[in-house]
Amino acid sequence: MNNPLEQEFEKQFGKSSGPFFHSRAPGRVNLIGEHTDYNDGFVFPIAIDRFTAILAKARPDRKVRLFSTTQNELAEFSVADVVAKDAPKWSLYAKGVAEALRQRGLIKNGIDALVTTTVPIGGGLSSSASFEVATGLALLAANGKTLDKVELALAAQWAEHNYAGMPCGIMDQFISALGEKDHAMLLDCRDLSRRQVPIKDANMRIFIANTNVKHELVQGEYQARRNQCERAVAILKKKFPAVKALRDADLSMLEACRMEMDPAVFRRGRHVISENARTLKFAEAMAGGDWAACGQLMYQSHESLRDDYGVSCPELNVLVEIAATVPGVYGARMTGGGFGGSIVAMVQQQAIEALTVEIDKQYPARCGKQASMFATSAGAGAELI
Ligand code: GLA
Repeated sequence: MNNPLEQEFEKQFGKSSGPFFHSRAPGRVNLIGEHTDYNDGFVFPIAIDRFTAILAKARPDRKVRLFSTTQNELAEFSVADVVAKDAPKWSLYAKGVAEALRQRGLIKNGIDALVTTTVPIGGGLSSSASFEVATGLALLAANGKTLDKVELALAAQWAEHNYAGMPCGIMDQFISALGEKDHAMLLDCRDLSRRQVPIKDANMRIFIANTNVKHELVQGEYQARRNQCERAVAILKKKFPAVKALRDADLSMLEACRMEMDPAVFRRGRHVISENARTLKFAEAMAGGDWAACGQLMYQSHESLRDDYGVSCPELNVLVEIAATVPGVYGARMTGGGFGGSIVAMVQQQAIEALTVEIDKQYPARCGKQASMFATSAGAGAELI
């Protein structure tokens, strides 16, 4: 007897011979190091225990057919042709990955695939990166190929830039592809070197609360922040020619250029520079199990994102404010790109209930909607099952 996913696959695509390929890739939550990845800086995410899973069969031709159970929709395209204008938006992530892999000479043929996910869509937990990475793995497997996970992450990022129009950094795709169970990853986004830091305390949980809002203009604001960072670098360079990215500057250098900078550009730079420092400190504190220090750095990160970087929103601020009042919460901050999405908190196991109750009580009253919440632990990166 087939399992329920295989039954669903056969319902959508009919019975056929040939083996199933089953891939899955996790969403992520970033503990700290926000809006630093595209500034050659440091990030510190974990892969979460929620996944996009793909059940696929190879096809003898170039066609890719995807059925998403979340969208309840079938999308179809061909490896190696231009995107049909009416292709559903969600399928463009897959189309982009297929194109990236085709250009590398790795895939020729398409797949029939059933796409399921437990990563909340639009919750700032990288559902799109998990979809891209899982699709890439399934396409490769069905074409009898393998690819280094770093290359797979880069192919997925290329898809996001070129097919979804999101000029993202490398964090999301990288952690989805390369996360390690029970570890957070300190990633240097300049050279992609990384250190896996064990999360040792069984009593400390990572807690996520989703605002369930996604404000418009996220991509436009994201691009605007990138431009402001580039502007800051251009000004810094004049006095300090060795500065290639904000990663290379410190606060005193930024201060020395303050008069030449638009105040907003100065603040963006201050966020990125201080956030890089916080991220390195956080990784040390976590390695030493100093959760109180980690928590303080999370609050500071949130304030910097809210006040200097301008990417928070009232709903995120309210969730962080509520979390800060609950005993046993070490720290909390917005996570991901901002303008909605989720907060991440570090919480003692026994405080989870009180935190959930408090958010359920206060968030609807203050923001007019429910938040969704769950505790998670660091899971493994993408794999073929
Ligand atoms: C989004 C992007 C990432 C990163 C974060 C902010 O999630 O996809 O690359 O820039 O925003 O840290």
